[in-house]
Amino acid sequence: MTRPIGPTGPTGDIYDPAFVKGVFDRCSGKYIAFSYVCSLGFTERWRKQCVAALGIDASARVGYDLMAGTGEVWPHLLEANPHISQITAVDLSAGMHQLAMKRLHAMRAHRIDFIEDDVLASNLPAASADFVVSTFGLKTFNAEQQRKLAQLTARVLKPGGRFAFIEASDPRGWWLRGLYLFHLKVVLPLVERLLLRGANDFAMIGTYSTNFGDARVFVDMLRAQGLNAEFRKAFFGCATIACGAKPVLGSADMNDAAI
Ligand SMILES: C[S@@+](CC[C@H](N)C(=O)[O-])C[C@H]1O[C@@H](n2cnc3c(N)ncnc32)[C@H](O)[C@@H]1O
Repeated sequence: MTRPIGPTGPTGDIYDPAFVKGVFDRCSGKYIAFSYVCSLGFTERWRKQCVAALGIDASARVGYDLMAGTGEVWPHLLEANPHISQITAVDLSAGMHQLAMKRLHAMRAHRIDFIEDDVLASNLPAASADFVVSTFGLKTFNAEQQRKLAQLTARVLKPGGRFAFIEASDPRGWWLRGLYLFHLKVVLPLVERLLLRGANDFAMIGTYSTNFGDARVFVDMLRAQGLNAEFRKAFFGCATIACGAKPVLGSADMNDAAI
């Protein structure tokens, strides 16, 4: 049964991983349909744009999908590079994990490894990835958690490895911003309350998204870790991307970073 939740978790913190896990465990059954319908199909388009921004070539073999959810980005990744031999997905929600494995990806199971854990507590090995991708997984991190995520990204990438993160964002400066925020903050919670018997979980996702702002701050954090990072907008800034690469030792960028 879906049940309403309060505005904060047991520690009074909506960024507490235990609270975030509860939100996504309860959302998982309806997540795919709700995110597709309520974003009017944009989430799928943005996942593709994120993979395009990742820009991996045929030599990329292994990588991480962080905050993987039900693995919606995997088909796009494997289409962009059929030579990928292993995607290690990390997600803390058991509900999302089960759905990913049961409903979507039995056919790809030999190429997917799923770690059910808080990504910031997981011990992913250093220099183990040709790529790191993440779609809509940034918003449930506060600033300190985002800084740790930037650190982790820099640590797990091999030199030359590429990364891309996309997140729904506040399209500041866009003339239709008011309408977009109305959709996020008023329409979606209403649809959820009516269709999901008073539940408030997807409304929490709206709260995380509007608190998030955009990926600019995260780009600065990635740069502070020595990565070459770039900020991009998708659809007038309704989603933003942090993408780039880890410099190869000895390249001009790394020399700059060392000065
Ligand atoms: C909005 S969903 C995105 C799922 C998927 N990547 C997509 O494209 O739809 C965010 C996911 O991040 C996961 N998540 C949030 N905080 C996490 C953490 N600290 N460690 C691992 N996963 C986390 C949630 O469980 C949820 O599945």
